[in-house]
Amino acid sequence: MSSTSAECPRDGHGRLVVSSQADATRIAHDPERFSNAVSRHLQIPNGLDGAEHARATRLLAPFFHPPALDELEPRLAQIAGTLVGTLGARPFDAVADLGVLYAVRAQSAWLGWGGVLEDDLVEWVGEHRAAGRSGNPHAAAGAAARFDDIIRVLIAERRGRKLHDLTGLLMSLRWDDGRRISDDEVVSVLRNWTGGDLSSLALCVAAVVHWVATHPGHRVHLAAADDAAMDAAIDEILRLDDPFVSSRRRATADAEVSGCPVQAGETIVLDWRAANRDPEAFADPDAFDPVGHAARNLVYGTGVHACPGRGLATRELRVLLRAVLAAGEIDLAGPVVREEPPLAGFRALPVRVFARG
Ligand code: HEM
Repeated sequence: MSSTSAECPRDGHGRLVVSSQADATRIAHDPERFSNAVSRHLQIPNGLDGAEHARATRLLAPFFHPPALDELEPRLAQIAGTLVGTLGARPFDAVADLGVLYAVRAQSAWLGWGGVLEDDLVEWVGEHRAAGRSGNPHAAAGAAARFDDIIRVLIAERRGRKLHDLTGLLMSLRWDDGRRISDDEVVSVLRNWTGGDLSSLALCVAAVVHWVATHPGHRVHLAAADDAAMDAAIDEILRLDDPFVSSRRRATADAEVSGCPVQAGETIVLDWRAANRDPEAFADPDAFDPVGHAARNLVYGTGVHACPGRGLATRELRVLLRAVLAAGEIDLAGPVVREEPPLAGFRALPVRVFARG
């Protein structure tokens, strides 16, 4: 039996919002009936379906292989250590002064961009976030165009000088039919990666720092945890307060979702944040249970479109959390400002890190 409209919640664009963990999981695992082709922009790989998506995923997978990330880790540790060291004992904003700067520096190290773009990228993260806050499609288009401009300069620089960093490597890829990847495709991939790496990572840093600052009883065993236990703890902290809000799908045929009718062509929203706190899936959604909750955790999505950057993001977060814990105790140092829906996470998070007494 179909639900009433009161039980079929819709967002400001009239799209059905799926908040149940089980339904979000089912839809994410049914890409034939729920397509990722939701945007008119080229989105590699996220906007692709079926064989096209599989071939893009295959092409890009080596960039995320663990040995490649092992090589990056010492550089991440250096970036995190320097950043935390520079912040010292004075109060700072864990979003702007730590999350955004760390995300920009870590991504620049990963992609071989050096430090020259730091100011542009920091400004871009702010612009991108403000566009999301305003809900204004022109602001979002402006931020996307500005990002494209930044990337096209990097591409031109590499074409001229044959730089063999990760961005240069991406530009040299060939599809399985032998065709070289085009500049538009490189921009699209980098936009897809950067959306994950810069914005999400900055927000995840703040979520993790907030949790550690407000759960002093967990600091000692977290600091002593091995990498696997630390990674599980980070996943669980993000489940509790997921800053990655949602993903869209387009129904390819009439369907029923969470008891609500959905017509072919209709766009629906998978609300990862709500699904990660669904009481039907997590008996006590507020409980911190990294092992017990792992199988139903949807922070990085699930199914064929699950986040390929998960290993990179987890490593970046682990390295930073270790640097913060090594620096001493951490406390809130002023009023915390949360983002308002449709965004999530923190807008400002004043904290201070101080040596253990
Ligand atoms: C920092 C924390 C991150 C979170 C919470 C996160 C979360 C997610 C989620 C929930 C999805 C699923 C989207 C869907 O089902 O349509 C996703 C997909 C994706 N993420 Fe991430 N992500 C993060 C970091 C990253 C990083 C570091 C990268 C790359 C550098 C990245 C690249 C991508 C890409 C390319 C996709 C699309 C995959 C596909 O459609 O096949 N993400 N991410």
